[in-house]
Amino acid sequence: MSLTVFTHAILQRDLSVIRDKHTSNDIFRATVQRISEVMAVELCKTFPLTEFTFETPLEITTGYRLRESYVLAPVLRAGLGLLDGFLKILPDASVSHIGVSRDHHTHLPNYYYSNIPAKISESHCIVLDPMLATGGSASMALDLLKQKGAKQLTLVSIVAAPEGVRAVEAAHPDVPIFTAALDRELNTSKYILPGLGDAGDRIFGT
Ligand code: PRP
Ligand code: URA
Repeated sequence: MSLTVFTHAILQRDLSVIRDKHTSNDIFRATVQRISEVMAVELCKTFPLTEFTFETPLEITTGYRLRESYVLAPVLRAGLGLLDGFLKILPDASVSHIGVSRDHHTHLPNYYYSNIPAKISESHCIVLDPMLATGGSASMALDLLKQKGAKQLTLVSIVAAPEGVRAVEAAHPDVPIFTAALDRELNTSKYILPGLGDAGDRIFGT
């Protein structure tokens, strides 16, 4: 089982804000950004470090740098909502945009764009998508990144459905999944329940 559900009190509070259908687009977007900062801090808690020496104004001491390089891969569009929060915590990360859109009738993902840096093969790639519903979009993004050479991958969502978690675990058992909420189920239109509606529409006001 590669699923971790973060239970930070701030995440619980902010999830209630973005689930509320009366929350405006601007508050929704700002709250998703704060959630992504908290999730980034939680995710990075155990990232490997390298020691180095440097001088304080008084003496030589030991400091730490993150050992690995990171690529953040937001799945367009809604994944963009998580990007700024993650970049605040990992400002040196490269960004690899992946365009995948779910068909409204079939609910299957369609690929339309990617821009993946060559360093993907020696970086830890963190895929960002607020919603993990059927898991089709996330699995397609992970397939693409692996085809381009990614070897170490992590998937971050804000709200996940059990169906989506199972689908990604089956297709990508090597990829750990982190979320702020494991919701109950999908409805017949493959929306997450209780969920928060269409994340992309609510972030971008469409
Ligand atoms: C939403 C969401 C995920 C996907 C999840 O994107 O942001 O990418 O659906 O569903 P799945 O797990 O069943 O694939 P959507 O295709 O609506 O595009 P958008 O981000 O442009 O709104
Ligand atoms: N995409 C969303 O934005 N929300 C869902 O509940 C499912 C897919």
